[in-house]
Amino acid sequence: MKQLTIFCVVLASLLGTAQAQELSPAQVNGKAVFDKWCEPCHGRVAGGVFGGLGTNALPGTSALAVKYNGDLPPVLEDRTDLAPIYIRTVVRNGLFGMPITRKTEVSESDLDDIIAYLTRAR
Ligand code: HEC
Repeated sequence: MKQLTIFCVVLASLLGTAQAQELSPAQVNGKAVFDKWCEPCHGRVAGGVFGGLGTNALPGTSALAVKYNGDLPPVLEDRTDLAPIYIRTVVRNGLFGMPITRKTEVSESDLDDIIAYLTRAR
C-alpha cells in the first residue's frame, strides 16, 4: 500500500512537470522585451468585453479587435496563429497604426526572443 502511495505521488509529480508550460530562457527574455516594447499597445484591456472588444484604451489591442471582429483574439499574446516572418516584417516595417521598431530599440536577438515567446508551443 505504501509503495502504491509513493508510486502515485511520483506519477502525479511527473505529470505535473510534463504539463507545466515552462518558458525557455529565450522565451523568458522575449516576454520581458515584449512587456517593455509591445505590451503598452498590445496589452490586455481591463474591463473590456470579449477580451477588449469595444474599448479603445490600447491602440494595438483595439485595432486588432476591429480587424478580426472576434475571429481571432485581439490580445497578441493569446494568438497561436502568428508566423515568425509575419511578426518580424510587421515589427521592422510597421503596419497601419503600428510604428516601425528600429534595431537600436529592439535588437535582432531580442526580436528573435519575442518571436520565440509569441510562437511558443501551447
Ligand atoms: C504604438 C503602438 C504599438 C506598439 C508599440 C506595437 N504595436 Fe503591434 N500593432 C499596433 C497596431 C495599431 C496594430 C494593428 C495594425 C492593423 O491595423 O493591422 C498592430 C499590429 C501588430 C501585428 C499584426 C497582427 C495581425 O494580425 O495583423 C503584430 C504581429 C504586432 N503588432 C506585433 C508587435 C510587436 C511584436 C511589438 C513590439 C516589438 C508591437 N507590435 C508594438 C500597435 C503597436
